[in-house]
This record gives sequence, structure tokens and C-alpha cells, in this order.
Amino acid sequence: MCVGTPSSETGEVDLSYIFKTAEEIGEIIKEKEEFHIVLIRSTSMPGTVDKYAEIVEAKSGKKRKKDFDIASNPEFLREGNAVNDFYNPPYTLLGCECESSEKTVRRMYSFLECPFILTSIRTAEMLKYVNNTFHALKVDFANEISRFCKKKNIDSREVIDIFIMDRKLNISEYYLRPGFAFGGSCLPKDVKALSYEGKKMGINMPVIYNIMNSNELQIEWAFQTIIKEKATNVGVFGISFKNGTDDLRESPAILLVEKLLGKGKNVYIYDENVHLANIIGTNKEFVEKEIKHISTLLESDPLKMLEKVDVVVIANRDNAYREIVNNLNKKEMIIIDLVNLFPEKKRSKNYRGIGW
Ligand SMILES: NC(=O)c1ccc[n+]([C@@H]2O[C@H](COP(=O)([O-])OP(=O)(O)OC[C@H]3O[C@@H](n4cnc5c(N)ncnc54)[C@H](O)[C@@H]3O)[C@@H](O)[C@H]2O)c1
Repeated sequence: MCVGTPSSETGEVDLSYIFKTAEEIGEIIKEKEEFHIVLIRSTSMPGTVDKYAEIVEAKSGKKRKKDFDIASNPEFLREGNAVNDFYNPPYTLLGCECESSEKTVRRMYSFLECPFILTSIRTAEMLKYVNNTFHALKVDFANEISRFCKKKNIDSREVIDIFIMDRKLNISEYYLRPGFAFGGSCLPKDVKALSYEGKKMGINMPVIYNIMNSNELQIEWAFQTIIKEKATNVGVFGISFKNGTDDLRESPAILLVEKLLGKGKNVYIYDENVHLANIIGTNKEFVEKEIKHISTLLESDPLKMLEKVDVVVIANRDNAYREIVNNLNKKEMIIIDLVNLFPEKKRSKNYRGIGW
């Protein structure tokens, strides 16, 4: 099923063509005796497959998973290259929660050599929006850089050619993991400097100008996630901007702690790498001038800290925190993971992530 899903006037996706087919299919399968599978290939918002199945159930009087099934199977074709893309997709993606339809669909695609990825229906529905929004972001990013380069008399084609040669950090999975805000002495400084220079030259680069805003919103999002727990005593694991370092400059965890203190929380901090006596240079200057009050919250014993808190926030990715938390026998404590230190954990009564 691959009917159009155009934009309505507000930008909202118009799913009416999809749901029209649900009614038609419901009507047609009324009399059908064999199991019927519908794969939704249209790009449609998470939740569409479930609503589709409800319509088919209502129209046909049949039961989902017993008499028929609806699954999400987004297509990754580009216009003008569709046949080639059909035979050479990056992967076959199936969002399906019914074993027998999964088997049938696997068999149907067995002629393709690419990986077959089975996931939940909502994850599959989400994927196409993530892909296309990222592609759009890439286009606009490259174009904003090109406008900046042109003003500076630099050939942006050469800049981007060299930029994409870096497959370790630039064109890679690096920096693409959901988690906490960025910080440190380079990223914020350089994004701010490029934005300042762009504005000075009168260039409009809204994507780049909003990077710092988006980063601050992620700190606010972490703060809101924590205060929702209504706990008074909060422990924070990791205060430096990155695990394995004691660099506190522009650390988003510090801004988060400031917000928690402002809300009247008792905050305790433990960081494997931050020992005030060893801090030197501009980092030391920063601690003494800007965050002396925060440095007094540092704890030297993580287990003692955990005894005092109801919520523990993981703010950088150090395996030492993982071990400490895993070995702890304190059932009522809530872990809020900002950095995916526990990739195997699902959201539960005692565990939540910043975006999962
Ligand atoms: N065009 C692409 O390259 C591409 C790539 C990936 C995903 N998609 C997604 O696939 C979906 C379809 O895109 P498209 O560009 O092919 O749209 P389209 O509008 O060109 O084609 C949709 C077709 O569905 C037919 N149709 C509509 N209602 C029908 C019904 N009830 N019964 C039978 N046929 C019906 C229409 O007549 C039309 O031929 C969209 O959700 C789109 O986002 C498109």
C-alpha cells in the first residue's frame, strides 16, 4: 500500500488516502478465508499502522493478527532512480509484531542481498521521517556553509570535498547518538564564533544560528525530566563535559546542576576524573571564578553519595558509574540516564533516559 501522503495547508501530513484504502481493504477481505497481510510503504506518522488496523477490523469484522495483519515497510526509493534503489536498498526494514506475517515478508524479500531489519511498528514508521529530515538538514547545512565561504572568497566545493573525506568524525555515526547536550572548550566556542562572523557579514544561516539554542533546550529537557520525579535529593554522576577528562569549561552538566539548585534541590556530585587539587590552567581559573559553589558539592565516595539521594542522574559516559549503579542494592532509587550508559535497559519504574 503506497498511496500519497501529501502535506495539508498547516504542514500536517494528510493521511486520508491511506485510511481510504483501509476501508477498501476491510471491505474486500470480509469474505476472504486466508490470512491477509498489508504492508504500508507510504511515509506516515507513527501510530498510522495501528489506526489502519482498527479501520480494517471495523470494516471487515475480522481480527488483527488472527485473520489479517498490517505492518510498516517503508520504502527507500529516490525518484529517477527507483528501480535501481528497489534492487539495491540500504536494508529492508520491517516494522511488524506478528510472527507469521514476518516469515511471509522475509520470504518475499529473500531475493535481496541487503540486511533484513525487523523492528517495532512505530520504530519503522519513524525511520523515513528521520532519514528525510536528516537529508534536508545536510543540504541546508552545506548551503549555509557555502554562503559563508562565498562571502569570505573561499570555494565551498573544495571545503566540502575535504570535509567529507573525514569518515571518522564528519561522515560517520560519531556525534549522532541521542543523549545530553554538547559542551567543552571547542564546540560551543566555534559554533558561536562562526555565527557571530556570519551575522557580522549579514548572512542568513538559520540552521547554524540555532545550534546553540537547540543545545540549551536539551539541557532544559534534562532538567524537566529530573524535576518531574519530585525528589529533593539528587545525585549527579559526571560533571566534566566528557568522560575521561576533568575539563569543566562549558560543561552542560554544570548548567544542569545550576538549574537544580535554583529549584531548591539538594545536589551531590561525583566525578571519577575531577579532583579539585589536580585541576590546572584555564580550567582552574574557571572553577575558582565561575563555579566555586558547585565545586563544594563534589563527593569523594560514590556509595556514600548514593545513600543520600532518591534520584541519580548519569551525565557522562564512564563505565565506573555503570558498575557502581549495577552493584547497588537500593531498589527505590530512580536512574535518569542522559548519556545511554545502560543501552540494554528499557524504560521502567526505576530507569529512564533523556530520549528513550
Ligand atoms: N516518490 C518517492 O520517490 C518516494 C520514496 C519513498 C517514499 N515515498 C512515499 O510513498 C508514498 C507514495 O508516494 P508517491 O510519490 O508514489 O505518490 P503518488 O501520489 O505519486 O502515487 C500514489 C498513487 O496511489 C494511487 N492511489 C491513491 N489512492 C488509491 C486507492 N485508494 N487505491 C489504489 N490506488 C490509489 C494514486 O492514484 C497514485 O497513482 C508517499 O507516502 C511518499 O512519501 C515516495
